[in-house]
Amino acid sequence: MSDKSNDGNGSTATEVPKGLEGVVVADTAIGDVRGEEGFYHYRQYNAVEIAEKRTVEDAWHLMFEGKLPSKAERDSFSEEIRPLRSVPDQVKKLLPAVATAGDHFLPLDALRTALSLCTFAYDFHPSLDVDAEELRGQAMRVCAIVPTLVTSLYRLSEGQEPVEPSDDLPYAANYLHMLTGEEPSAEQAGAIEQYLISTIDHGFNSSTFTARVITSTGADLGGAVVGAIGALSGPLHGGAPSRALDMLDAIGEPDNAETWIRNAIEKGERIMGFGHRVYKTNDPRSLMLRDVAERLGGEQYEFARKIEDSVLKVLEELKPGRRLRTNVEFYSGVVMNSCGVPRAMFTPTFASSRTIGWCAHVLEQAADNRLIRPAARYTGPPPPEPVPDPE
Ligand SMILES: CC(C)(COP(=O)(O)OP(=O)(O)OC[C@H]1O[C@@H](n2cnc3c(N)ncnc32)[C@H](O)[C@@H]1OP(=O)(O)O)[C@@H](O)C(=O)NCCC(=O)NCCS
Repeated sequence: MSDKSNDGNGSTATEVPKGLEGVVVADTAIGDVRGEEGFYHYRQYNAVEIAEKRTVEDAWHLMFEGKLPSKAERDSFSEEIRPLRSVPDQVKKLLPAVATAGDHFLPLDALRTALSLCTFAYDFHPSLDVDAEELRGQAMRVCAIVPTLVTSLYRLSEGQEPVEPSDDLPYAANYLHMLTGEEPSAEQAGAIEQYLISTIDHGFNSSTFTARVITSTGADLGGAVVGAIGALSGPLHGGAPSRALDMLDAIGEPDNAETWIRNAIEKGERIMGFGHRVYKTNDPRSLMLRDVAERLGGEQYEFARKIEDSVLKVLEELKPGRRLRTNVEFYSGVVMNSCGVPRAMFTPTFASSRTIGWCAHVLEQAADNRLIRPAARYTGPPPPEPVPDPE
């Protein structure tokens, strides 16, 4: 569509495709996705290469400071993060109530509630009223606290005590340590590190856009990240990895795969872990995570490989020309499962790393802000109709 409609000010506005597909809404130096090529990058680096060669802290530094750290910068960055990982006392005592507030534990609901409490306790002010250095400090705090919050809330929901962050462990190993209470093997920590780095940022996805819209109003950084968590919780965005494993369970045996998948598509259902708005070829994250899953090995990986082949075959037949491929969610579930991350924690683990990307976008938006306020095409009965008198 390219016709014009009213923008609410009486002037005309340009119409864009539903879902804003392909519409450029901002400038960013943080990264981008090239869907046709199956490539995405963090600043000038291939994101997969960063995930294969660097640590979460290095990638975080790259996102915030615009460059990979030197040895000295890495040390001081890690030193800065370390004390920010502890939950403030006034929030710590509220976490058991947050974790057990509902009949079922909903980790992202619990996270956004707890993060909101934290940023309230930290006394964050509207981004419009704080300078760039203070906003960066707030972003550091939020990225550091989210892993502690998600793991603490999960443990509390399971009737276990939270595990304090370890002074000796870097981000990825510490994440598994706070989740399980045990120090992970180097292999598990390395696998989760690759997953975490590969999910830090991914173009102008829905939750990143949400964070930028909220920041554009001048609201505080906590509000932007809490809103982004809400966007991420949707199954069409971040809520799919456990659903992909649920599908593997439901299929049960490789021989059932084709019939199961065919039935699901014929009923109009989506196969979780497949399809992407931007990638029309292989999602590079799924290729990398498939390699990670292969390295970790196990029956589930072997089974997932077979099911992937069946899904792709059936999608090709029943949805020809849609170019549907495996997305990040399919093998991330397999990788996290192999590393001892429970299903309920798949999306929260994604949220932990993505918080770094959201915060980098908040900083960028705030540094060169204009209120994001688009328009909609009115499709209701023509106004103004006289308001009837009450009966
Ligand atoms: C990711 C996703 C939301 C992208 O959606 P989108 O760009 O809006 O794509 P559309 O909804 O326009 O779908 C285009 C066509 O492909 C089909 N399609 C897309 N993903 C599909 C899937 N996973 N399974 C079956 N069919 C799918 C749609 O039914 C549609 O078919 P139609 O033309 O016959 O109506 C979508 O692929 C999806 O729902 N995937 C499953 C959920 C998932 O894995 N989410 C994690 C994303 S990282």
